[in-house]
Amino acid sequence: MEVKNNIILALDLMDIIKSFELVESISKYINTIKIGYPLTLAEGLKSVTVFKENFEFNTICDYKVADIPATNEKIADLTFKAGADSIIVHGFVGKDSVAASCDVALEYGKEIFLLTEMSHPGAIQFLKGKGEKIAEMGLELGINNYVAPSTHLDRLSSIRSVLGKDKFIISPGVGTQGGNPNDTLKYADALIIGRSIYNAENPEIAIKEIIKEITV
Ligand code: XMP
Repeated sequence: MEVKNNIILALDLMDIIKSFELVESISKYINTIKIGYPLTLAEGLKSVTVFKENFEFNTICDYKVADIPATNEKIADLTFKAGADSIIVHGFVGKDSVAASCDVALEYGKEIFLLTEMSHPGAIQFLKGKGEKIAEMGLELGINNYVAPSTHLDRLSSIRSVLGKDKFIISPGVGTQGGNPNDTLKYADALIIGRSIYNAENPEIAIKEIIKEITV
C-alpha cells in the first residue's frame, strides 16, 4: 500500500457531514483513511461506502475484529461488502479467528491488518510482550500488513525485527498520545493520526505541520 505523506487519517468524528468536510479540506495531503467504530456506529456502514465512492482513497476499517471464527467471517464480509480495502483484526484471539478474517479478505481480493500490540497505556497490562508471537502467527498465515504502537518504540522495533523489512506496519499513537513521527517511521511504514488533525483549529495547517516535521 502506498500511503501519501506516510499519514493515515483516523476519522473518528461521529458525524458523516463533518467527516466529509474534514476529508475534503485535507484531501490533497492524504490518500488513506481509517474508519472505526465511532463513525460507523454513529452513521452505519454507509460511512465506508460514502468515502469509497467519493474519494480515491485506501479505506482501512478499524473494527479490531476479535471474535470466534464464524462471527469474524460475518464482520469481515459486511465490511468488505461496504467497500473497505482492509480491516484491522486483533491477533490475541488466536489463529483460527484470524484465519477466518483472512479467508474472507481473500474472497474479496482484499487484505487484513493484524493488530499486534496497542498504543494506549493500559496495553502494557495484558498485551505487552505478546506482539512478537502474534507477528509470528501472522507470518505463518501469510499476512502482509500489521499494526504496532508508536508509543512503545521498543515494542514496535521488536515487532519489526520479527516481521522483517518487507512487511507493512502502520502505527497509531503519534501526536495526542505522545508518539513522535520520525522515531516511529524508523520502524513503521505509515502513521495513524487522528485527534492532532481533526481536533485542530485548522486541520490543514495541522497536517502540513506534521508533514513538515517528517524528515525520514
Ligand atoms: P489519535 O487520535 O490518538 O488516534 O491520533 C489514533 C487512532 O488509532 C486507533 N488506535 C489503534 N488502533 N491499534 C489499533 O489498531 C492500536 O494500538 C491503536 N491505538 C489507537 C484509535 O482508535 C484511533 O482511531
